[in-house]
Formats: sequence, C-alpha cells, structure tokens
Amino acid sequence: MKILVTGGAGFIGSNVVDAYTGAGHEVVVVDNLYSGKRENLNPKARFYLMDIRSGEVGKLFEHERPDCVNHHAAQMSVPASVQDPVFDADVNVRGFLNVLEAARRCGTKKVIFISSGGAVYGDAREYPTGETYSPQPLSPYGITKAVSEQYLFFYNHQYGLDYTVLRYANVYGPRQIPHGEAGVVAIFMDRLINAKPCTLYHYADEPRGMTRDYCLVEDVARANLLALDKGSRGAYNIGTGVATHTAELFDSIYEAIKRRVKDLPPELKTPARAQARPGDLKRSCLNIGRAKEELGWLPGANLREGLELTLKWRLKK
Ligand SMILES: NC(=O)c1ccc[n+]([C@@H]2O[C@H](COP(=O)([O-])OP(=O)(O)OC[C@H]3O[C@@H](n4cnc5c(N)ncnc54)[C@H](O)[C@@H]3O)[C@@H](O)[C@H]2O)c1
Repeated sequence: MKILVTGGAGFIGSNVVDAYTGAGHEVVVVDNLYSGKRENLNPKARFYLMDIRSGEVGKLFEHERPDCVNHHAAQMSVPASVQDPVFDADVNVRGFLNVLEAARRCGTKKVIFISSGGAVYGDAREYPTGETYSPQPLSPYGITKAVSEQYLFFYNHQYGLDYTVLRYANVYGPRQIPHGEAGVVAIFMDRLINAKPCTLYHYADEPRGMTRDYCLVEDVARANLLALDKGSRGAYNIGTGVATHTAELFDSIYEAIKRRVKDLPPELKTPARAQARPGDLKRSCLNIGRAKEELGWLPGANLREGLELTLKWRLKK
C-alpha cells in the first residue's frame, strides 16, 4: 500500500514511518521540519519538504496518489495553542483541511488521523476515559483536534472517504525532543543527564502533580499499522489505562538515570515546583478496551521498561 505520512520527520510520525516501511509499504513523507528533523527521516521513504497549508499539497497528491494518508503533522503544544490560538488553528485545522481536500480529490481511500485522548476529553469525570465521553477540551489545541475529527465524519458522509481516529495518551520514547513545553519524559531525562534541575508543574490541591497515561512510541506505531485495515469510521484511545503522577514519573526517571550515571548530584532528586500552566489538565487516563477489541491492539511495554528503553537510546545519542 502507498501511504503518505504528514509529520513523518517528527517524533511519533518517524517511528510510524519506520513501522510502515518495515512492513513493506511504500511511504511518502510530507513535513516542513518545523519541529521534525532530517535525521529522523527513513531513507526508504520519499521526502517532500512542504507545509501542509501550501497550495502545492494538491499537486503532490495528484503526483503520488497515496492509498492512505496518515496525518501526524500538527502544532502539538498545549501552552503554545493558548498563547497563539490563531497559529494553532491555522496549522491544525486549515492545514488538515488542505490535506483532506487533496486526499478526496485524488481518490485516497483512507485517512488515519492523530488526535489526543487527553486534550479532547478535557478534565473528564469518567476515568479512565472511554471514547464515548463527550469532548470538553480545555485548550485551543484540544478544540482543533476535536473539530478535525468532525471534519472526518463530514468527508466520509459526503465523499465516502474512510477514516480511523487514534486518540493518543502521552507518548514518549526514542526521538522525542526536550526543547519545548511538551514531552515531560524527554525534558526530565535531558535535564537530569545534563545535571540541571527539573520543574514539576502542579495544581494547589495535588502536590504530586497531574496524572497522565504514558504510552511508548513503538506501541503507538503498532496501532498505526493495525489501523491501515481495521477501525473503519471509528475513534480509538491509544494509551495504557494506567495513571501516573508527574512526581512518580520523575522519581522513576531519576532512579533509572542514577543506576547508570554514577555521579548524579543528589540535590537534583527534589524538583522545583511551579503552578500548572493554562490548558494543563489535572488528570488524564484512557480506557483502551475498544482498541483491544476492535483493532486487536494492546500496549506491550510498562512504564519502567519503556523508560529503560528510552534512556538507553538517549545515552547512545
Ligand atoms: N507527543 C504526544 O504525547 C502526543 C499526544 C497526543 C497526540 N499527539 C499528536 O501526534 C502528532 C505528532 O506529534 P509529535 O509528538 O511527534 O510531535 P512533533 O512535533 O515531533 O511532530 C510533528 C511533525 O509535524 C511537522 N509539522 C508541523 N507543522 C507542519 C506543517 N505546517 N506542515 C508540515 N509539517 C508540519 C513537524 O515538523 C514535525 O515533524 C501530532 O499531531 C500531535 O498532536 C502527540
């Protein structure tokens, strides 16, 4: 199958490209390298340096005629979306619409759209949260993801374009970058390895920090493989169903690094504290029953194993 992956030079997208090429698919990558890196690009994939908002996207689709589009390209920072909701919507909604228009015009059969389980549900009362929970996003980023899901419904209804939505939990693992506000695993790891203090964001009533559902990127990539021919017109949570407080995560990372980096300064063991930022959810954890039943997907790694694997990659860099 020929698959066009937008955002295929990014952290998760590039791992998905590796899984697709590894399974023998022909892969085309579209990325403007806004946060993605050339070094992440799989040499077996054809790369186009292009913005998803560009007028050239239609021509590219006409030329490549992909069977399936896997849409990972996005402005993916929650705090950045609060600061500049116009830019967030421009990339995440207008850019996605540009891709959808190109896809339906050239006869693409399916779109796999990457949404966010945390950001779309908001601070859900149902916990772990299932896919039927009514979206209550608390950030412009969550709103653009929820809206994009609705566009898919329209494109299917109007043009018969098939789709699967994957609503990710907090993804971590090899290639995640520590530069930015998102990606707490990469940020903690990078700072501790460089003997710099960390900051733990929290709400006043929960000093252990927010809870998140952490899922390893290679498990997430496997869900993208399964979604190629399963999950028609469905939305699926991709997480672990296990909630971890930020303080717990920090301790696990600190201990994992301490086992390898002998001279880690002991004062780094206590992170600085700061108030949660606008848009930060208090808690997020996903019910993954539907992905198990309908996609045949289950996460393979627990957090400890996943952190070890990530640290091994980080120390080899
Ligand atoms: N990281 C997570 O925990 C997480 C959780 C839920 C959902 N997601 C979603 O997964 C997807 C990938 O996220 P990631 O963590 O790999 O981030 P990332 O920033 O590494 O990947 C995004 C990629 O999109 C590219 N891109 C951005 N704007 C573009 C544009 N206008 N045109 C073309 N390419 C553009 C970037 O260069 C980058 O390669 C995003 O849609 C994100 O919203 C991520």
